[in-house]
Amino acid sequence: MFNVVLVEPEIPPNTGNIGRLCLATRSTLHLVKPLGFSLEDRELRRAGLDYWKEVPVQLWDSLDALRNAQLAGARYFLLTTKSKRPYYEVTFQKDDFLVFGRETKGLPHNLLTANARNCITIPMLGTRSLNLATAVAIVLFEAVRQQHT
Ligand SMILES: C[S@@+](CC[C@H](N)C(=O)[O-])C[C@H]1O[C@@H](n2cnc3c(N)ncnc32)[C@H](O)[C@@H]1O
Repeated sequence: MFNVVLVEPEIPPNTGNIGRLCLATRSTLHLVKPLGFSLEDRELRRAGLDYWKEVPVQLWDSLDALRNAQLAGARYFLLTTKSKRPYYEVTFQKDDFLVFGRETKGLPHNLLTANARNCITIPMLGTRSLNLATAVAIVLFEAVRQQHT
């Protein structure tokens, strides 16, 4: 239904959990290299349980390679703590791409500034950022919810 993009993910259990979220929502998981682990990683598979082998995963050498392979009208939303626009103000559409950054560093600054209009945030009180898999769950299920209203 949607496309979840993890740019340079580092922690296998996060990606495993996100794989389950993708499976549960019929979404595609896109992984942009370099990855901080092997796709054979035991922790990745454990977090994804038996489901991991069913997760539709696409691997990309770069975010540009991913974008160049999509249709011209594809829509991308960049999730960052550095935006003021709440994710729930977006009207999500089927096939949208939800782009998330790496656990330690987030998305590159130049990517965020070049795509400022497409940056969205999960408003928070009292912490610097959420766990990557938690952030994906919040936004992905809001996007799914909107398809049913
Ligand atoms: C652990 S966070 C990265 C933390 C990094 N120090 C930063 O400030 O971007 C990993 C990814 O989760 C997503 N994320 C975490 N909390 C978020 C929030 N409150 N709003 C939007 N995205 C968030 C972003 O995509 C982020 O790149």
